[in-house]
Amino acid sequence: MAAVSLSTSVSKLKLASPVILASGILDLNAGLMKRVASSGVGAITTKSIGLNARKGNPNPTIVEVYDGLLNSMGLCNPGIEEFKKELDELKGVKIPVIGSVYAGSPKEFSLVAGKMAECNVSAVELNVSCPNVSKGEKFGEAIGKNPKLVAEVVKAVKSKVRKLVIVKLTPNVSDIAEIALSAEKAGADALTAVNTFGPGMAINIDARKPVLGNKFGGLSGPAVKPLALACVYKISEKVKIPVIGCGGIASGRDVVEFLMAGAKAVEVGTAAYLKNIEVFNRINREIAGFMQKNKFKKIEDMVGLAHR
Ligand SMILES: Cc1cc2nc3c(=O)[nH]c(=O)nc-3n(C[C@H](O)[C@H](O)[C@H](O)COP(=O)(O)O)c2cc1C
Repeated sequence: MAAVSLSTSVSKLKLASPVILASGILDLNAGLMKRVASSGVGAITTKSIGLNARKGNPNPTIVEVYDGLLNSMGLCNPGIEEFKKELDELKGVKIPVIGSVYAGSPKEFSLVAGKMAECNVSAVELNVSCPNVSKGEKFGEAIGKNPKLVAEVVKAVKSKVRKLVIVKLTPNVSDIAEIALSAEKAGADALTAVNTFGPGMAINIDARKPVLGNKFGGLSGPAVKPLALACVYKISEKVKIPVIGCGGIASGRDVVEFLMAGAKAVEVGTAAYLKNIEVFNRINREIAGFMQKNKFKKIEDMVGLAHR
């Protein structure tokens, strides 16, 4: 069989595999991240970290639904100063680490992204897309749904951070390409599309009440894959900066779909949560098998093919 290369790049980020661990899964401490780092992934993304510690939403915060998960974690994290210690422990890790951050304003974003960029990370991912925050809070989606605010956040971060800046978009908008363009114009180096869909809900009919402590949550996993794929396709028609696809990816064929829609790499979350870290090497093998069968030598050769 002809040799194929799984290596790809997202701007200046060089990846040995296009498959990246998505933020929020198996990534809240150094021990977990080290395990994932040796499981075939091209890079790992950290849990989204804020300026201060945050408890998150009341339990239960995760429920399995048909072909996916609903989660209402609510950005629980130890705060950047505490999380620095975890990142320090990752010094020997050979693959890139992407530090995910969230904040409530452009100024706070530049502060926390600046602190993250001082750590052992190759890039920062700006989470302007978390749906699981309370009404009135200006975190997450409240920013990501507003093209002007997204631009302000990106400009503030880019004025402070020299490392790669990736903006993670919410799909819960009427025109995701408009938000993507706004991030690009403001100087984003790359985009991740997308965060969870929602709000979604599950009801325990025996208890006669919502399953999640927070009532509502964001939907992820195979159920959202066609929707996430359409987001990547639409964005790729509009922007020149690299796009990282995310949403429902669980197999090598799923990855190839996202590449053909225009993504240069992908993030995988729910599949790793449900099937553990073995998924990454399996997905790599499946991508390589598809490439050999179809005579693709490198990842780049498949990127955007569905647009022609
Ligand atoms: C339990 C859980 C926690 C998550 N936490 C975060 C987070 O902290 N930051 C973030 O940007 N996305 C978070 N996400 C969203 C994922 O990174 C990803 O965008 C989404 O789940 C879609 O991909 P998937 O279908 O492969 O999971 C979380 C998802 C899940 C299921």
